[in-house]
Amino acid sequence: MSVEGRTVLIAGATSASGRAVARALLDAGARVVAVGSDQGRIDALEAELPGVIGERADLTDGDDVLELAMRVHARVGDVDGVVHLVGGWRGGGGIPGQTDEDYRVLERSFTALRHVSRAFWDDLVASNAGRIAIVSSTTVAAPTAAAANYAAVKAASESWMQSLAHGFDALRPAQGAGGGAAAVTFRVRSLSGLEARLAASVVDLWRADASTLNGSVTQLVAD
Ligand SMILES: NC(=O)c1ccc[n+]([C@@H]2O[C@H](COP(=O)([O-])OP(=O)(O)OC[C@H]3O[C@@H](n4cnc5c(N)ncnc54)[C@H](OP(=O)(O)O)[C@@H]3O)[C@@H](O)[C@H]2O)c1
Repeated sequence: MSVEGRTVLIAGATSASGRAVARALLDAGARVVAVGSDQGRIDALEAELPGVIGERADLTDGDDVLELAMRVHARVGDVDGVVHLVGGWRGGGGIPGQTDEDYRVLERSFTALRHVSRAFWDDLVASNAGRIAIVSSTTVAAPTAAAANYAAVKAASESWMQSLAHGFDALRPAQGAGGGAAAVTFRVRSLSGLEARLAASVVDLWRADASTLNGSVTQLVAD
């Protein structure tokens, strides 16, 4: 099994980590759909990585995501994978400093995950090797006062991934041993310097059985 010939959508593709994942997937022979909210950054990514299929959408807007899914289906058909990288960071100030404004910014990442996973759920289920992955944070396992908003949103995202895993598991008997879809959570302390590690881990998602991967939470560390 490999990612070669499969179609993978990167939700939030223009950051350093998104570009590294896109490059690794292209190098491994995948077709890559790169989504971001800024057309200029999408254009720059398409210029940097020939072959990438850029799409602009605000992934926090449910209607925008449904329209994105229709455009993606028209351009490339169903996707086999979704790598969700929409993030954001706000923190500091202890518990009294966990402002609603910061929470609203952070919550956009979880909202985007919900929209994207629902819009492409049928694709992932229909694929013989559907994969969806997020990058969470080690702070979920050891939440701090200074990062309470952030840890809560990441914990919600991880919970959502376990729900996706439960949904995939329920369908697995019909998909056969080893086949089917998997929802995977990567955790990092910081992504800085780990972009290549993340990219390789995403490519490897298609080298393992879905039943082994589904619901897994893996901390990424430097080699
Ligand atoms: N950076 C770290 O050290 C670190 C640590 C722990 C976990 N993580 C997690 O790892 C993941 C990737 O992190 P990152 O720092 O590379 O990501 P990021 O800079 O937070 O954002 C990733 C991408 O999301 C896009 N994006 C933001 N809002 C969007 C929207 N409404 N619609 C569509 N696209 C949108 C951004 O592009 P546009 O602005 O062009 O739309 C960007 O390409 C995130 O989930 C993050 O929380 C990161």
